[in-house]
This record gives sequence, C-alpha cells and structure tokens, in this order.
Amino acid sequence: MSGPAVRFDVAVVGGGVIGLAVAWRAAARGMTVGLVDDARPHRATWAAAGMLAPVTELHPGEEALLELNRASAARYPRFVAEVEAASGQCVAYRRCGTLTVALDAGDVDAVDELYHLQRRFGLVAERLRGSACRKLEPALAVGVRGGVHAPEDHQVDNRRLAGALREAGARAGVVTVVGTARRIESAGGAVETVVLADGSALPASRVVVTAGCWSGELEGTGGTAARVIRPLKGQILRLRARPFAVLPERTVRALVHGSPVYAVPRADGELVVGATMEEQGDDATVTAGAVHDLLRDGRAVLPGIAEAALVECGAGLRPATPDNLPLIGRPGSGAPDGLLLAAGHGRNGILLTPLTADAVVDLLDGVTAPGLDACRADRFAADPAVGTGAGR
Ligand code: GLY
Repeated sequence: MSGPAVRFDVAVVGGGVIGLAVAWRAAARGMTVGLVDDARPHRATWAAAGMLAPVTELHPGEEALLELNRASAARYPRFVAEVEAASGQCVAYRRCGTLTVALDAGDVDAVDELYHLQRRFGLVAERLRGSACRKLEPALAVGVRGGVHAPEDHQVDNRRLAGALREAGARAGVVTVVGTARRIESAGGAVETVVLADGSALPASRVVVTAGCWSGELEGTGGTAARVIRPLKGQILRLRARPFAVLPERTVRALVHGSPVYAVPRADGELVVGATMEEQGDDATVTAGAVHDLLRDGRAVLPGIAEAALVECGAGLRPATPDNLPLIGRPGSGAPDGLLLAAGHGRNGILLTPLTADAVVDLLDGVTAPGLDACRADRFAADPAVGTGAGR
C-alpha cells in the first residue's frame, strides 16, 4: 500500500457540498483534513437546482425535516458570507422568494392544502389569486389560476457553492485526494485508514462519510448507509435566457395537471428546470420522456421557456432515506469508533449543508449539537423493517 504518510485528524470521504463544507469547517477549526473525492458525474450537488425552500417544499408528516430545514435556512446568510470571504468567490445566493402556482382546479386544491399546512406551522406564506401571481411574476402564463408566495424561500447556485467550498477548504489546508475510497480499515475497533481503489491509503484518526447515495459502497463502515440510503433519480434541465425569452425573476414551482415542476432563475441568465423523482436504482440515464415532460410542464406555466436556449439535460441521484431525514452522527453498532456519517439528505442537501457541517464538526470536537435527535445516524439500527438499500 502506498499513499500519503501523514496521519490526518479527519478524513472526509465524498466531495459533494456536505463533504466540502465539513472539510472546510473542520480545517478552519484547526484539524488536519484529507478529503477523498471521486468526482462522481451524477452527484446530487452537481445536478441540484439550489432551492433553499423549507416553506415551499413542506410535505405532510415531515415536521422534523421542516425544523431542520428552517434551522439551516436561518444559517445561510452567515454561511454564505463566510464561504465567500474564505474563498474569494461569489456563490450567487439570491433572496428572491418562491411562488408556487396552480394551473387547473385540482392543482388549486393541492396548492390550497399546502397553504393551510404552511399556516398551521406558522410559516410565512401568502395566498394569491391568478392575477396577483402574474402581477408579482409577469413571466407566468395567463392560465395560472392562483398560488402561494413564500417570500423567505431563496436559492443559491449550488455549482458555484461547491466551487467556493472547495477553494475555501484548500485555503484552510484541506488536502484533496482524487480517487475512489473502497474501504475503511480499523485497528482495535477504531478507524485507522481509508484505503482507495488504487491501493493508496489515507491514515486518519476520524472518518466522516459524506458520499451521498454511494456512502453504502464503502466497506468497513458497519453497513448502515448500505441498508438505509437509496438513490432517488432526478432529471433536470439547464436553460439560458435569450432576447425575447421572458423568464421569471424568482423561483417558480408549479403543479401542472397534478405534475410538479420548478424553475429556478439565476442572476446570470441561467434557468434550472426540474426535476423528476424516480425510483430507478443507480440508473442516471437522461430520458426523452422526462425532458419532454419537464419542458411541456415548464412551458405551460412559463411560456418564455420556449424561447430560451436549452443548454443541458442532466440527471442526478439524491441520497434518500425511508423517513426523508438525513443520517448525521455515529452509525449503529458494527461501525468502528471514530466513524461518522453525514449522508442521506434527499431533496434537501444544499439547504442542509450549513447545519450539517456545523453539527459534524461539533461532533468531531466532542460536542453533540441540540435538536438533531431526529437525524441520528443510528435510528434505524433496531428496525428490521428498514432495509435493503432498496433500489440498489
Ligand atoms: N429539492 C428539489 C429536488 O430535490 O428536486
């Protein structure tokens, strides 16, 4: 075995936004950090739209997730300021608000239900008629019947964020190793080394696994991630503004005859239109049908999409869990000491990055942050019903 002889305080396995933020924050606290990054092409960090939308993405039965999402959204302004200062890069955080709109009568009923749920939780949301939606967002189609405005749901450019976190980490001393981590070797029940596919090794006192839906592929972790995390495919498009293409100023989510679609406009003219939710295992094929459906539904609420340039059709694999909550902390029995998991963020990885990174670095410092019981990484340990890593 060959590789860096240095023993890191922390090895982070996975170079999506969660891993990058953990590595940067840990290095900023004075720990020596090695980051193993295999630059997966379908990682959620790259595919995501960057919505920071706890109010708009509220679903019945997800109160615990709502609390996490709100807590992380509240950290965003400071997080962004710190990342930008530490990296010298802009991450295009836009406080643009989000408008959810409905096209037919059934869609109006569903949006009304969302509004009542939002109000039940005391969230900031305003019910609007179709005309008021169009006044707020002139790019909307005349057929829009009504909607809900969530002025505190914002967005960030997830690709810029990843780049800035990488740079901030490098400046703080994070050593990035490009390669695929295969297994963790332990000694005396505690983590000792991350072994890569090429046989090289990264000795470390602690290991944080942040490899999204691939976290379960790493051997020697006790198997929690393999049992609990599954890929949830999302197909997503990137468009670009052109003269005469009237595009929205704020994030627009829509129900179009029962099908959800969203459009996230960047200040630089990019419009991200997504996303499917598909249980397809590891398959990340971009399909003609999904591209067609996203463009059809997007165009139904935002006609200007027809004039925009279509620059990218992509797919990513969200790391999903049975209860839609992430796994943060020590996995259940069978995991070696010194191993932490920060994965399974599902539809909310970009949003939950600040909170997750702070919680993990606190754990590395021996401190358990309050309010994170719902996402303990060992919560499925005693549940035989959970578990085969469905979709793999
Ligand atoms: N949060 C949006 C998505 O997962 O598609």
